[in-house]
Amino acid sequence: AKIPRLRRPLVLVGLMGAGKTSVGKRLAHLLGVGFVDSDAEIERAAGMTIPEIFAKLGEPAFRDGERRVIARLLTEQPGVLATGGGAFIEPRTRTEIAAHGTSVWIRADLELLWDRVRDRPGRPLLRAPDPKTVLGDLLERRYPIYAEADVVVDSRPGVSQEWMARDIVRA
Ligand code: S3P
Repeated sequence: AKIPRLRRPLVLVGLMGAGKTSVGKRLAHLLGVGFVDSDAEIERAAGMTIPEIFAKLGEPAFRDGERRVIARLLTEQPGVLATGGGAFIEPRTRTEIAAHGTSVWIRADLELLWDRVRDRPGRPLLRAPDPKTVLGDLLERRYPIYAEADVVVDSRPGVSQEWMARDIVRA
């Protein structure tokens, strides 16, 4: 496909395990633009990991910091911005994203998401004893909101990150 020139940052949204960070890096490479990840930037700015921020400051403080970091990153005109799964769900953060970027929802079903996150710690929302049920509940609550994204692409088992990135360019 022909590689388009971007007028606005592409902002990847979707649940944990959708592949926002890994696909985002591929996508940025494909387009020849920069890549940033809001979770990584929050950790850098706070000098704490995401689980530490949730434990020490609580989720509301995390959401507030997340919104400010995303607003700042958007003004710095990244080519591709991967966000944490809850960012687009926060109305004020969603407003920032809608004002300055083109949102792309990487949609995936519960089995695929769970397969990707089950052995990866560091996601404080996925609490014991039944993290898969928590993820399923988040999916039900959040999908109608992710559906407001400008572009929707589907992630399926066996589809490579490279293919996903090309799918986003096509879309
Ligand atoms: C969250 C997703 C995480 C991280 C935090 C909260 C969420 O990011 O921002 O743990 O609310 O879904 P990933 O989607 O990159 O895992």
